[in-house]
Formats: sequence, C-alpha cells, structure tokens
Amino acid sequence: MTRLLLKNIKSLVQIRDSSCLKVSGLEMKNIPCIENAWLAIDNGIIADYGSMEDFPGIEIWKGLEIIDCEGKLILPCYADSHTHIVYAGNREGEFVDRINGLTYEEIFERGGGILNSAKRLSETSEDDLFEQAMVRLHEVISQGTGSIEIKSGYGLSMESELKMLRVIKRIKEFNLIPVKATFLGAHALPLAYKNNKQGYIDSIINDMLPKIEAEKLADYIDVFCEQNYFTPEETTTILEAGKKHGLIAKVHAEQLSHSGGIQAGVNCHAISVDHLEFCNDEDIQVLKKSDTMATVLPGAAFFLGLPLPPARKMIDEGLPIAFASDYNPGSSPSGNMNLMMSLGCVQYKLTPEEVINASTINSAYAMNLSHEVGSITVGKKANFFITKPISSYAFIPYSFGSNLIESVYLNGIKQ
Ligand code: NIG
Ligand code: FE
Repeated sequence: MTRLLLKNIKSLVQIRDSSCLKVSGLEMKNIPCIENAWLAIDNGIIADYGSMEDFPGIEIWKGLEIIDCEGKLILPCYADSHTHIVYAGNREGEFVDRINGLTYEEIFERGGGILNSAKRLSETSEDDLFEQAMVRLHEVISQGTGSIEIKSGYGLSMESELKMLRVIKRIKEFNLIPVKATFLGAHALPLAYKNNKQGYIDSIINDMLPKIEAEKLADYIDVFCEQNYFTPEETTTILEAGKKHGLIAKVHAEQLSHSGGIQAGVNCHAISVDHLEFCNDEDIQVLKKSDTMATVLPGAAFFLGLPLPPARKMIDEGLPIAFASDYNPGSSPSGNMNLMMSLGCVQYKLTPEEVINASTINSAYAMNLSHEVGSITVGKKANFFITKPISSYAFIPYSFGSNLIESVYLNGIKQ
C-alpha cells in the first residue's frame, strides 16, 4: 500500500488533536499550522507530521514516495456539508428571468424552481443522473472538496425520491470520498398534491420513510421550512417521523423569511440548520443552548441576492459556524468552496482563519465526519490538497475566482 512523504511544506495548515470535533466563537480565529513541515501518509491515513527541523531522516521512511512541497501549502480537503448535486439539467433560463426582474418565489409560484428540476428529474434515468452527478463530484474534488453531503428533494414522489437516493448510494459506494445521504422529500409540495399537502406529508411518512430505511438509503432527513413550503409544525412532524426510521435531522431554515426552522431543528436535535439569512437574536440564543451546527451557505445568499446571515454576530456570540456550498441548479450553481471562503471574508467580514475552520472541521462536524476528516490529524483520512506556490493561506480567499490548488490527494492517492 502507498506510503507517502511530503517534505519542505511551506505551511501545514489546520493541525488538530483528535479530540477536536468543532471550533466555536473565539477559537475560530485560530488555525494551528507548522511552518516548514513534513507529512507522512501510510495506507491512506495521516501517519505523522512535524517540523523539518525535527525531521527523523529519510532512512526510517523506507520504500515510500517523496514529494517536495517547497513554497507550497497543504490543507485538509474541504468538507461540503450541504449539496444537491444529483439533478437533471440546469436552470439558466430562470437565472435570466431573475435578471429581468422576477423573484425566486415568483418563479416557483409559476411552476418553476424546484418543480422545474423535479419535472426534468422524473424524465431522466438513474444511470444518466449518476453520470451527471459524477461529473459534478469530480469537479468539486478538483476544487478541494474531500467529503460531501448530498440531498434528494427533486423527486417529490416515491419513485423519483428513491431514484435520487439510489444514485446517492451509488456515489457513496464508489468510495472516492466520504458521502452522507439526506432524504429531502419535503423540499416542496409536488403538483400531484397541489391541494392535499397532508396527503403528501402522509406519503413521506408512511410510504417513503419505511422504504428508505429498508434499503438503507439515507443518513439524514431534511425539510425546507419556509412560507409556501413547510411550516415549523409540519417540519417537526416530518423530522420526528424520520428519527423513528433512524434518520438524524437537518433543516433548510430561515432562508427567505423568518419561519421558525431553527427552533424546530434544535427541538429535534438537528445536527445542523442551514441557510439562516433571517436568523434573529433569539435564534442565536436558541443555537447557543444546542449542539446544532449553524451552517451558512454563502453561494445561495450571493446568487439570490438575499440578506446575509449574521455570521459575524454568531461567532462573536460564541457559536461555531460551518460553511457549505449548497451546490444546486436553482440557488447556487457552484460547489467551489474556495469561492465560498472568499464570500465569507469579503461579504461577512470573517477572517481567513474563520472561513477555513468553517469549511473544514466545522462543516465535517455538520455531517458527523469530523472524527474522520476536516483537519490534519494522525489517524484521519489522508484527504488533503497541495496549493500552488503561494505566500500564505490568506491568499486563498483573497484570490477570489483563482484556482490555487495544484493537486488533490484522496486516501493518500493523487487524483
Ligand atoms: O438550498 N432552499 C431550498 N432548496 C435549495 C434550492 C433548490 C432549488 O432552487 O433548486 C437551496 O437553496
Ligand atoms: Fe439546499
């Protein structure tokens, strides 16, 4: 099996003890690094690291590949804890409609948005969906992502939701990077149930959930808690039902209005609540008493021109926050975590240290993967990237739109 030694690393970034599963508040201002470092990988796992000054010498590292990283940085791969990368076709027509004055909500009310993607998905085969999603997966890996959560939610019928979840299962079993699957049947009300919302909720609970459990198709259950989508009461009912089938809660919360999704999520012990554009002071207090990760999706707020989530305030109040891309065809057609970090610095006034923590260890926590990925830690998966020669890690969010990643390693293997 591969043994790898990376030496002369200008800076080895985000070194954490195995007991660190997330960082909160002031701790987010710190990124532990070793300057002029080495990193050893054995059998796909981080085996050891240190300063070149205390380098144990090549003699003890027999039979391994040696890579000289002079001038380059190494970071753990990003953990992208919120995506919808299984979808059919794109929605650039709606993008143009929005440029010409329609709102995201107006497009949905005309049968576009999520319903547009649901129609296309129902007409697309499982194999075709898998191919399309794998192209996106390879794209985000090349941009530094090394673990990912993927949601269903463009099915909105038993048949199509299961189709999506089976595609996610195939991606998971492909074993390129750790994948978590989320059942998002409650993403929107499908046309077939236009005047029968309770009927659709019953179908989620009584038809879909038992099948999903039987086929082990999901880890999490998510609901779009929003006006014209699902109320906090409906959200709670669906999340509780999911729990009975072994699924942990997540919520699309407070994205387009203040709808009570944070409180509903925390009540259901959600692992994360995501979006948070309309999160208020009370919600921050609710989050402070929970283990729920507040997850900001800078791409969606940017692309839809929404008010910004109070990320700065959350951290100043002592909360941890995570970043994810929300890669989807409607509100964030990008899975580029480097760009999310630039948005975090420029728009949210977070420091480079804060956005790196948000995009690695904290977003790994939001998928219950921070014991496995999200930092340079002995025993964790060797999913990391080497940058081009750059001056410091702050250069990554600073150089928005550039690709500073030279190579990505997954399980210690160069991609
Ligand atoms: O996370 N907010 C709801 N769901 C997605 C967008 C879905 C879509 O427009 O296709 C989101 O932004
Ligand atoms: Fe989303």
